[in-house]
Amino acid sequence: MRKIVIAGNWKMFKTQAESENFLSGFLPHLEETPSEREVILCPPFTDLSVMSKYLHGSRVNLGAQNVHWEENGAYTGEIAAPMLTEIGVRYVIIGHSERRQYFGETEETVNLRLKAAQKYGLTPILCVGETKQQRDAGETEKLISTQLEKDLVDVDQTNLIIAYEPIWAIGTGDTCEATEANRVIGLIRDQLTNPHVSIQYGGSVKPNNIDEIMAQPEIDGALVGGASLEADSFARIVNYQ
Ligand code: 13P
Repeated sequence: MRKIVIAGNWKMFKTQAESENFLSGFLPHLEETPSEREVILCPPFTDLSVMSKYLHGSRVNLGAQNVHWEENGAYTGEIAAPMLTEIGVRYVIIGHSERRQYFGETEETVNLRLKAAQKYGLTPILCVGETKQQRDAGETEKLISTQLEKDLVDVDQTNLIIAYEPIWAIGTGDTCEATEANRVIGLIRDQLTNPHVSIQYGGSVKPNNIDEIMAQPEIDGALVGGASLEADSFARIVNYQ
């Protein structure tokens, strides 16, 4: 059984006060949300603790946007998995294209982070996806296949979510056609050993395209950036038809 997972990636947006303000507007909408849908918010590290308290007893789970592979150590600027689990974080985004592009994330470090997250009981959301240049050159399938092959070495596929995020569709308003996202996600699934892994689509998901995206048979959810920052818009996405 593949679970439906809708996650908001807030990236580097929202102070603690703004995060609480968001939750007060967002949580009432969840009364309409079918119970089998998993709803996750991934705010900046500084918001996690206050949000965890606010969300106590609610159905929303928290995710972080990165995690280091060591349990602790001299790694200035990094956060370790036990620091996240202690405050109630359950998920962590790993290998987002912005981390790969701006912060030197490699397939090797993605793999280390995935294994560490699982070791400490977090469920990783692994992001894969191609650039516009790679797509235009017909390299999408090969690129994603290589990412999966390297990222998933010794990774437990029973505690894993994957997000297909074509880089050219992130923050551009240029959504990947739902049928094309469905096709690529089908190819990703073919490469996994566990057919029950939930695979999300991410890239300019909005209230006006979520219904079509979620109608695709291979797509098990969405990883939402910009449209998750506003309570009404993320509520509309979570409550897709
Ligand atoms: P947008 O929804 O803003 O395109 O961002 C997608 C994304 O990167 C989610 O991780």
